Amino acid sequence: MKKKVKTNSNEKAIIYLDNKKYDFPIIYGSEGQKAIDISSLKEKTGYLVFDNGFANTSSTLSQITFIDGEKGILRYRGYDIEDLVENCTFVEVAYLLVHNKLPTASELKRFSSYLNEHSMIHEDMHHFFNGFPPNSHPMAILSAMVTSLSSFYPYLSYEDPTFDITEARLLSKVRTIAAFSYKKSRGEPVVYPRYDLSYCANFLNMMFSSPVREYEINPDVVKALNQILILHADHEQNCSTSAVKLVASTGVNLYAAISAGISALWGPLHGGANQAVIEMLDSIKKDKGNVKKYIEKVKNKKNKIRLMGFGHAVYKNYDPRAKIIKKICHELLPKLNITDPLLDIAMNLEEAALKDEYFIERKLYPNVDFYSGIIYRAIGIPTNMLTVMFTIGRLPGWIAHWKETMESERNKIWRPRQIYIGPNKREFVPMDKRMK
Ligand code: CMC
Repeated sequence: MKKKVKTNSNEKAIIYLDNKKYDFPIIYGSEGQKAIDISSLKEKTGYLVFDNGFANTSSTLSQITFIDGEKGILRYRGYDIEDLVENCTFVEVAYLLVHNKLPTASELKRFSSYLNEHSMIHEDMHHFFNGFPPNSHPMAILSAMVTSLSSFYPYLSYEDPTFDITEARLLSKVRTIAAFSYKKSRGEPVVYPRYDLSYCANFLNMMFSSPVREYEINPDVVKALNQILILHADHEQNCSTSAVKLVASTGVNLYAAISAGISALWGPLHGGANQAVIEMLDSIKKDKGNVKKYIEKVKNKKNKIRLMGFGHAVYKNYDPRAKIIKKICHELLPKLNITDPLLDIAMNLEEAALKDEYFIERKLYPNVDFYSGIIYRAIGIPTNMLTVMFTIGRLPGWIAHWKETMESERNKIWRPRQIYIGPNKREFVPMDKRMK
C-alpha cells in the first residue's frame, strides 16, 4: 500500500470507558469515507469491539473498487462501471483491476497473447475430471482443480516481473477448467482452446463446439458475455474476496487463496444466488406464475425463504449492476429470437416486490443475480454452471485483492477475536460418572 492514509490531528474519536478518556485517530478515504482507527483499542483499554457480520468494520485499506451503496455507485480504479461496460472488453477490465491502469494497445496485445499461450491445462489434470461422480456440482470441481493448479505450475511472487503470466495463467485456465467440466458432465469430448479466438469467444467455443457440430460464434453473445463478466469483476470486500484476503494473509500461494474464494462464492446468499434465482423462477412458473403467492410466502418469516436475487449488504438502492444486466437482457433475447417465460416472471416479481411495503421498508432491490441467469440461459449455459460464470467474472478482482494484500506494508495475519459465551470452568467428569 504505497498511498499514505489521510488523518486530521484536530479530529479524534473520544471514547469513555471505565471513567477514563481515550482518543483514537479518524482516517479518511479518498471518497470522503470516515473510519475510527481502533487498532490500538485492546492494548490501550482492554476492550474488544463486537460487530456481527463485520457490517461496520473496514477490514482493509484498498485502492481497487469504490461503492456508494446509498447512491448506487460502483467504480473500478476510479472508472464508472457504466463506462467500462460500454467501452471495454473483460480482458481490458481484468488488466485494469490488477495493474491499476487501462492497458495501452501494446500492453493489451501482450496480455492477450499470455492468455492464449496459457489456456491449456496440464494433460495429467484431465484425469481428475474422471474421478468426480457424474452429478458433481461444477463449483466443487472448480475449487478442487484450482488448488491443484499449484502442484502443476510454479508459484511466482507478485514481485516477479513475470507476475502477468501467473495472472494470465489463472484467468485463462479457470475458463478452460469450467468448459471442460461442462463437457465431462455431458459425457462429450473436451474442446481445446484456440489461439485465434478472443477470451469470451474461446470460452463459448469450448463450451458449445463438438466434433459433430461447430459452434457459430455470435458477436452479440460475445459482447453480452464480456459485459456481464465486467459487471462481476470486482465488488470490494464482499464475502468471497474477504475469504481470499483472509487466506492470503497467511502467505499461502495465489491458487490456494483463490480456491477459498470459489468456495465462499458458491453459497446461495452470495454468488450461488444466480442459480437459486433460476430455481425460484422455475418453481413460480410451475405454480402458474403466481408471483403474489410467492411474495406472501417470503414475507412469512416462518417459511424461512428469501426472495433470491433481491437485497444487498451494501446497496440500499437499485444495484447499478442489476440495472445494466436488465438492459442487456432486453437487448440480447430479441436478437437471439428467444422468449423466456422466466423473464416475464422475473419482471412481474420485481414489479410486485418494489410496490410491497415489506421490501420498501427494508430497502430491498434486485441485485446483480436477479437477471443474470436469464442472459446465461439464453446463451445456453445450464443452471448449475451459473455460479461458475460468476467465478470467471470475479477472478480478476480476487487476483487484484490478493496482490494488494501481498504488497501492503500493513499486511498481517487476519485473526479476529471473539466474545466467549460458553460455560465457565467445570470439573472434569470421568466416563463412568457421566450422566445420559
Ligand atoms: N428476501 C426477503 N427478505 C430479505 C431479503 C430477501 N432477499 N434480504 C433481506 N431480507 C430481510 C431480512 O429478512 C431482514 O428482515 P428483518 O429486519 O425483518 O429481520 C432484513 O431484510 C435485513 O436482512 P439482513 O439479512 O440483515 O440483510 P443483509 O444486508 O445482511 O443481507 C443479503 C444481504 C444479500 C444476504 C440478503 O439480502 C439476501 O439474503 N438476499 C437473497 C440472496 C441474494 O440474492 N444474494 C446475492 C447478493 S448480490 C451478489 C453478491 O455480491 O453476493
